[in-house]
Amino acid sequence: MTMAGKTLLALLLSSALLCAANPAPAQQEAGDPKAKALFESKCSACHPISRPLGKNKDRDGWTNTVTRMQKVNGCPITDEEAKTIIDYLVQVRGPAGK
Ligand code: HEC
Repeated sequence: MTMAGKTLLALLLSSALLCAANPAPAQQEAGDPKAKALFESKCSACHPISRPLGKNKDRDGWTNTVTRMQKVNGCPITDEEAKTIIDYLVQVRGPAGK
């Protein structure tokens, strides 16, 4: 093998190792990317998304909160979008210790 070939091989190997050492963070916690995008765009209008992301609630809790944002505080989402966001929040911000 030529010198350039060896260097290339070494580079390929080391980048493969780096990728293996950096798996995507908490894949199973990430939720549906479309729901995440919806949540991030709709729920950041009035307060930072850290507001909901700082909480842990069960399905009833998130249903109450998201419904209140929609019906009382005036968050412009459809019932369908509310459901998607509730599912997402239950998944990533469910009850503590789950
Ligand atoms: C139109 C403005 C507005 C939008 C959009 C909005 N919120 Fe809120 N949010 C508020 C206001 C005002 C409060 C404080 C009063 C209250 O708690 O109802 C609040 C408080 C909160 C709280 C803290 C209180 C609690 O019950 O834990 C959470 C969590 C929350 N919002 C989540 C969300 C989520 C999730 C979305 C997206 C579905 C959202 N918000 C979109 C206005 C908004």
